[in-house]
Amino acid sequence: MNIIIQISYLVASILFIAGIKMLGRTKTARKGNIVSSVGMFIAVLATVVQVEAISLIDILICVLIGSTIGLVIAFKVQMTKIPEMVAMFNGFGGLASLAVALSDFWLNTQQRNLGVDTITGVSVALSIFIGGVTFTGSIIAFMKLSGKMSGRAILFKGQHLVNLILLVLSVVVAVFALTDFTNPIYIIVLGVLALSIGILVVIPIGGADMPVVISLLNSYSGMAACATGFVLNNNVLIVSGALVGASGIILTQIMCKAMNRSLANVLLGGFGQTSGGGGTSADGPQIVVKEVGVEEAAQIFDSVSSLIIVPGYGMAVAQAQHTIRELSELCEKKGVDVRFAIHPVAGRMPGHMNVLLAEANISYDKLIEMDEINDDFANTDLVFVVGANDVVNPAAKTNPNSPIFGMPVLNVEKAQTVIVSKRSMGKGYAGIENELFGADNCLMLFGDAKQTITKLVGELKEI
Ligand code: TAP
Repeated sequence: MNIIIQISYLVASILFIAGIKMLGRTKTARKGNIVSSVGMFIAVLATVVQVEAISLIDILICVLIGSTIGLVIAFKVQMTKIPEMVAMFNGFGGLASLAVALSDFWLNTQQRNLGVDTITGVSVALSIFIGGVTFTGSIIAFMKLSGKMSGRAILFKGQHLVNLILLVLSVVVAVFALTDFTNPIYIIVLGVLALSIGILVVIPIGGADMPVVISLLNSYSGMAACATGFVLNNNVLIVSGALVGASGIILTQIMCKAMNRSLANVLLGGFGQTSGGGGTSADGPQIVVKEVGVEEAAQIFDSVSSLIIVPGYGMAVAQAQHTIRELSELCEKKGVDVRFAIHPVAGRMPGHMNVLLAEANISYDKLIEMDEINDDFANTDLVFVVGANDVVNPAAKTNPNSPIFGMPVLNVEKAQTVIVSKRSMGKGYAGIENELFGADNCLMLFGDAKQTITKLVGELKEI
């Protein structure tokens, strides 16, 4: 039986790896999801068979409760709330690793009076530490993203020193815990320290830096699961945890590049120093804008031969992706070359815009990454910015005092004409003014994106 279980784990691991590879391409992503799910099903089945001590009924009850909660959340969550949900799920992954490692340690040392070998001991300490940091860090990220807590960077004097002291204390306590596991207090203190560090490392991160945190926490949840795999001696958990940990780190690197920050800078916690999330607005004179009505906007759309649509978080809020598809198809019928410019941190989660536009059946070939399209704005007749703000803010290039200075942005201001669809002069996630809106070639089309674009489509059809 053990051989069959180990082979099942191997098959599950291969399916995870194949699934992740398929997720790398938009065309094979759906299949990749199914392949990975089959892998997970096999892994769970093998584990259920392996763990004889627990009754099948107990497992089924747990699966039922977990699946029901998961299904209700997944059905109820609005598209704009997905990033918060992802942050929460990362946190629960960390909490699960912490709980499993703690209970295994407790069972062996306190109830069975068994010893713990070095590898298992270190793995227990790592699971509890990384799991704890991931849990509270993700809760803070969730609260910041959902607006339950200010998105601003919360800073205090000697913050890095406090973090360093807590980190050193954690190592010391972990060593005590592993040399004297008859006393459970050390492992409990380690858990409390980890939970505190999680809060302290995420509160100083504000504004536009959140994407890096989310992907880093995602990676941590994988590493915690991997360490728990060593505690339980479970190969499939080691492999799947390592996959999540590694892919999370790769994503973190991609996000770092998008935010123009080095990974070392991120890992040292030096990335919370901006004043993002509601920062200063006194970084320039009052912006005077030119408004455009739907009718006039429709005339402009009718007269151009090249159009780049730049979606942002506001498109997700308005759920305007379907009306945008209608608009793009209408323009294409009129002979306009239509493309979409995708900024890597547009919206509130990696790939947010790609997911929404794919949902509206917009062809993948039309979605062009920032690096590829940035030089083309200068040769474009019209740029239509839909609910994007920070990712098109020229201050990132021109104002060294801006919290987003250095972040690569889309060069929309270089196009002949820019039309911006948003509800008001409201700021973006970084909480700063955007001088693009006052530029000579920029026209503001105020109103909810979905409603405005629906009217625009109606007008264009009449022309
Ligand atoms: P934002 O800078 O957040 O701007 C969104 C704009 O959408 C707002 O200025 C808002 O203006 C407008 N808006 C809101 N609801 C609207 C509606 N119903 N119709 C039309 N417009 C609407 O968006 P962005 O340019 O996509 O930038 C993303 C920001 O989020 C970056 O700072 C990024 O670092 C940060 N962030 C990204 C992620 C990831 S991984 N993508 C994660 C966390 C944070 P009005 O209120 O005036 O309408």
